[in-house]
Amino acid sequence: MTNVVGYEVEGRVAVLTIDNPPVNALGIAVREGIVARVDQAAADDNVDAVVLIGAGRTFPAGADIREFDRPTKEPHLLAVVDHLDSIEKPVVAAIHGTALGGGLELTLGCHFRVAAPSARMGTPEVNLGIFPGAAGTQRLPRVAGLDHALELIVLGKPIGAATAKDYGIVDEIVDGDLRAGAVAFAEKVLAENRPRNISSEPREGIGAPEAFAETIEKYRDLANRRMRGQDSPHIAIESVLDGLRMPYDEAVAADRKRFEVCKNSDQSKALRYAFFAEREAGKIPDIGKDVTPRVVETAAVIGAGTMGRGIVVSLADAGLPVKVIEATKDLLDAGLAEIGKLYDGMIKRGRLDEAGKAERMARITGDTDYGALSDTDMVIEAAFEDLDVKKEIFAKLDSAAKPGAILATNTSYMDIDAIAAATSRPADVIGLHYFVPAHAMRLLEVVRGEKSAPDAIATGMALAKKTGKTAVLARVCHGFIANRSRLPLVREATFLVEEGASPEQVDRVLTEWGMPMGPLAVSDLSGLDVSWRMRRSLADRHDPDERYMHLADRMCELGRFGQKAGRGWYVYEEGNRRPVPDPETEAIAIEVAKEQGTERRDISDDEIRERCLYAAINEGAKILDEGIALRASDIDVMWLSGFGYPRWRGGIMFSADEIGLKHIHDRVQAFHAQHGKLWAPSPLLARLAEEGGRFTG
Ligand code: 3HC
Repeated sequence: MTNVVGYEVEGRVAVLTIDNPPVNALGIAVREGIVARVDQAAADDNVDAVVLIGAGRTFPAGADIREFDRPTKEPHLLAVVDHLDSIEKPVVAAIHGTALGGGLELTLGCHFRVAAPSARMGTPEVNLGIFPGAAGTQRLPRVAGLDHALELIVLGKPIGAATAKDYGIVDEIVDGDLRAGAVAFAEKVLAENRPRNISSEPREGIGAPEAFAETIEKYRDLANRRMRGQDSPHIAIESVLDGLRMPYDEAVAADRKRFEVCKNSDQSKALRYAFFAEREAGKIPDIGKDVTPRVVETAAVIGAGTMGRGIVVSLADAGLPVKVIEATKDLLDAGLAEIGKLYDGMIKRGRLDEAGKAERMARITGDTDYGALSDTDMVIEAAFEDLDVKKEIFAKLDSAAKPGAILATNTSYMDIDAIAAATSRPADVIGLHYFVPAHAMRLLEVVRGEKSAPDAIATGMALAKKTGKTAVLARVCHGFIANRSRLPLVREATFLVEEGASPEQVDRVLTEWGMPMGPLAVSDLSGLDVSWRMRRSLADRHDPDERYMHLADRMCELGRFGQKAGRGWYVYEEGNRRPVPDPETEAIAIEVAKEQGTERRDISDDEIRERCLYAAINEGAKILDEGIALRASDIDVMWLSGFGYPRWRGGIMFSADEIGLKHIHDRVQAFHAQHGKLWAPSPLLARLAEEGGRFTG
């Protein structure tokens, strides 16, 4: 299949162009094409050197991940890479866009590498539960040195062209036309009669593993901390170590076997699922490419509280001029000062410099008058969670904002249609539910009201992309997708404490499952009063047949709001965020259990895990069934980007499929019988369990 790899001769240099949109992934046709074209160049008497380049937006961004579910077809990428460096004529890789994974490995088979200044390179395979399986773990240490190679391979973060040059991965950075620069570089190699660099050959300084014990330990430790529970970074390290212990051929033979095991592992399947789920989330069936997002060149945020400030920073970071509207001059000044402090924190952590802060602060202005919004393209309301307050604000926005401006509310659970009804232009109203802290959290829940216009929704999705966030679309219901599906987990966690588990047992079980923090420690962090206020606002809607979170209420009545109060489910020492178990919590739980007639008992870890997770899964199934989420994978993307659900488990709905829906349905039915109405099984779950189906296809 040579048609996906072009062949042209310029002077004495053959230019092989890989053309497999969108990202030139190295599927079987490309692999065959490269081998055929390289052989053609080797046999071409008019050719003395070869340039390998990608058409379109990028050098190959890696192996074709979609092929991983099918049996591997020869030639394997490893054979292609080995074939490249066996060619007697010098081969130059010309890199632009993103040379990732197998793409970077392909360049390591080439004898030289040149890159556009904007090119990025890396080996992100660990994020897919695998490791660089086309000799990257062997060749990269020889090219870049062990430390840099491990940095790329274990952490999976790409680097820019300048860093790649520092690391010795890139020989030359080409300003201007890359293809012409690469051909000129190849001609220079010929003119200077430079020897071909063959990265599979032994390199001085790469020797016995013992000599690198400290470096290896550093990356093991980083892998444990940053990718807790995930196997692939450790397998990648083993593969690199093989390269230190064995000759190249033996090490890559071991890699071939190891790669197949990794690729077929549950973790890799889940991580690949997560990769495609995130991309799928951006696609809305009835909003195609023909729907153009509205132009957003200016933005405003109503309210400079914690959430508002985070949103302002996220917008200003993306280069948008932002107006902050507050009720009084004092509140405004205080809000702007806090925004300055947020940037100071980033400077302290080395993420920003003073100039960067000044640039961003210059984009942020403030006002107390809605009249200032007359030329703003998008207004995001981040006021107090009170429906009447929000309606009042939207009525004011209706008179103040220009026609066609997007009017967004950051509510985390309220009825967007009721808010939109306070305006004369409900088509322009959408929900943009940010997560705390809004400037750092990746998730943005875009909520589609009954009357939201398709291009208004498209604008919300585009804003997410512009501000570096993952957008997921939800329909209107109480709590939308994210909070509605998480609430049952938190609810069960608190019921379990009432029934006899300790907060530390509940949190331990869920962190062992892979969550970064347990739900009760998270409640302490975000404040128990947040959901308390919500419960109180819904008190008149509470169904008396449903079990109620009396214990959580009692904690708040006692002022145990969490970290900010120095005590919640745990206690906190002054200035320390580490949760310390508190016997008083148990005493309160015993008291509430007595009042409610709840029998206290020993609770097993299995019960904790099942009740917390299955409650969320059952709700997720209802959300899906009701059309609040477009697809099960959207719910998963929320959990991955919003709640730190372990990526290597895919998300709650994917986990459910892997556990088996029949088992989950059986358990949900049992909990329903035991704990009542809140556990009513989702009809969709019941049907799929019966049919042997899955949520996630
Ligand atoms: N295989 C198959 N499809 C891929 C792909 C890959 N390696 N990389 C991207 N795509 C697809 C996406 O699914 C998407 O498809 P869609 O339009 O149908 O949804 C399309 O290409 C465009 O991708 P993005 O929407 O992600 O485009 P961006 O411009 O935002 O990002 C990118 C581009 C940075 C290249 C990003 O797609 C990416 O990170 N890709 C994965 C890179 C990677 O992990 N490479 C390693 C692969 S494993 C490997 O190489 C094994 C080897 O060691 C043997």
